Amino acid sequence: MAMSPAKITSEQEDQMFRLLRQLDIAPDASQRALAQAIGVSLGRLNALLKQATDAGLVNIEDRNGPDKRARHTYAITARGAGEKNRLTTQFLNRKLAEYNALHAELTGSASSLTPISNRNTLMENNLAPIPELFVSYESAQKLKVEAADLVSHDLTPRQICDLELLMNGGFNPLKGFLTEADYDGVVDNMRLTTGELWPMPITLDVSEDFAASLEAGQDIALRDQEGVILATMTVTDNWVPNKAKEAEKVFGADDDAHPAVNYLHNQAGKVYLGGPVTGIQQPVHYDFRARRDTPNELRAYFRKMGWRKVVAFQTRNPLHRAHQELTFRAAREAQANLLIHPVVGLTKPGDVDHFTRVRCYEAVLDKYPQSTTAMSLLNLAMRMAGPREAVWHGLIRKNHGCTHFIVGRDHAGPGSNSAGEDFYGPYDAQDLFRAHQEEMGIEMVDFKHMVWVDERAQYEAIDEIEDKDKVTILNISGTELRRRLAEGLEIPEWFSFPEVVKELRKTKPPRSKQGFTVFFTGFSGSGKSTIANALMVKLMEMGGRPVTLLDGDIVRKNLSSELGFSKEHRDLNIRRIGYVASEITKNGGIAICAPIAPYATTRRAVREDVEAFGAFVEVHVATSIEECERRDRKGLYKLAREGKIKEFTGISDPYDVPANPELSVETENVEVDNCAHQVILKLESMGLIAAE
Ligand code: PPS
Repeated sequence: MAMSPAKITSEQEDQMFRLLRQLDIAPDASQRALAQAIGVSLGRLNALLKQATDAGLVNIEDRNGPDKRARHTYAITARGAGEKNRLTTQFLNRKLAEYNALHAELTGSASSLTPISNRNTLMENNLAPIPELFVSYESAQKLKVEAADLVSHDLTPRQICDLELLMNGGFNPLKGFLTEADYDGVVDNMRLTTGELWPMPITLDVSEDFAASLEAGQDIALRDQEGVILATMTVTDNWVPNKAKEAEKVFGADDDAHPAVNYLHNQAGKVYLGGPVTGIQQPVHYDFRARRDTPNELRAYFRKMGWRKVVAFQTRNPLHRAHQELTFRAAREAQANLLIHPVVGLTKPGDVDHFTRVRCYEAVLDKYPQSTTAMSLLNLAMRMAGPREAVWHGLIRKNHGCTHFIVGRDHAGPGSNSAGEDFYGPYDAQDLFRAHQEEMGIEMVDFKHMVWVDERAQYEAIDEIEDKDKVTILNISGTELRRRLAEGLEIPEWFSFPEVVKELRKTKPPRSKQGFTVFFTGFSGSGKSTIANALMVKLMEMGGRPVTLLDGDIVRKNLSSELGFSKEHRDLNIRRIGYVASEITKNGGIAICAPIAPYATTRRAVREDVEAFGAFVEVHVATSIEECERRDRKGLYKLAREGKIKEFTGISDPYDVPANPELSVETENVEVDNCAHQVILKLESMGLIAAE
């Protein structure tokens, strides 16, 4: 029996619409989640389900799973899908009629808006709204309160990025984190169980303990790092993945040199959870809010602007003139508008931070002819998976309303593997994209390698220059650019825009203006503190940057007074020094550290902390243990020999001699001043101090 719209109220219609929409988004959700999502009681839900099945809009089947609360699966029928569309159009038209009436009352004239059915038919495929996983505002308020009682998972930064794109339709057709069957299909042949193309496993990795505490079919709350509930998820699948296989199939090699493989093995939890997600709210962003758009917001923008063809440009780097030329050219060739769509979620470790990049993009945006180009930020967590990543990027851009996508040489390449070779061939990404573009519904635009032709004072595509041997072709590589920035050297205007260079210089001043850390290590009594003090005074005499001395004794008095000399305590002590030194380095100061720091692994960890922000200069004060004992300035060696001090470095506790320090200084028969001067010369040779 078909539903008779005349006999039911608009509130009932609204509930039916929500039910159909929700079943479409999350067919596997539990009854409870379903009721929460559409904002009705369980009793009302059952009545609605009955009405829907009677009318042939929904099929209910028994599920033979172990979970008592999720005995049924609901599938929306073709008639149900049609009814959902009819109810949507009817609802929107009702609102439009109300709006038109209001418009007429206030202005005395009819509004220019046309009914939805006409508007839908006019809409291009890429411009019509796409499904999101969010529930309505009212339902979200209720769901949020209910979800507070659920078991919670605190999302990692990468999972937050994934969830945002799941909820806003950026990862359409996914309706949640992949189930085991979908994961297997995606890993093996880039296909979901429905047969749809999807190249990247979007998985919710958790710890074994958390996974073991869950029952099949249980709803969990997904929270951001401040504890805000962003979504609920019905956990239908819970399994231990074969990570080595995932690495081989998805990233091309089980090699930790690949950032995503490293993440997979060393950061991601051991167990994956899968199941449909019900969106409550978007993750909160405080930065560049006006520049962030959901797929539907971009689609609406393109509709409003009348952009029917849109070329997207993906980037994780600052844009220079060659990029501006090639993107503009690509758009012109496709006779399309251009969307600069940079990634601001997670990119490759070591990339220029997104704050700086967005300021650079904003400067470049002015260089395009007005109203041909837009820029929007994409909160994607990249995997650097080359060919599969390119296909993934294409699907995401299609969801954002784009018709074309620029793919270049080595798209989303992760750099070299542990044997020093590239993970992927230079054109693998283009080949894989081309092979699937028809099915994807987004066309590839070849990325041209643009170079500056000095005689003609313009950029040209290298493979189109016929008189290569007669003209001067100029180009600056990424490595050369980084060197010039680090050394404060000139960056020519033909290469980049002055506004961009200014932004980059602000974030990456020349090395002689950046912060750095000098880390002395050596036995007690080796002379670390004396040389460190002399170095501090010399650096202060030069001026320019604040200098802080973190001497072993001073630190133990002020930061680590509760610690002893066990391995655990020494590590804690050195990690604290490393943390303070990295903060000083980040803020442009000079940190001089002078602890014994006997363990190589701890020293390496401190190096990594500091090198995120500036140079780390390890100086081994190589005085022998015999000489230190002979000097025995504090009388400690005598006590150590007598067994009155335990775990004494060099006597009854180990010292790992640094394998590759930046500098090693001998102190026997050498003046302190000379030792400090050797450090100064080293700093000069590294470009860390320079004559003004
Ligand atoms: S560590 O290992 O880096 O945490 O040590 P550090 O903080 O530099 O502290 C070393 C100073 O503490 C005194 N001291 C000892 N040193 C080594 N081993 C034992 N068991 C010990 N007990 C006390 C010693 O005076 C060290 O001072 P320096 O300035 O190095 O001579």
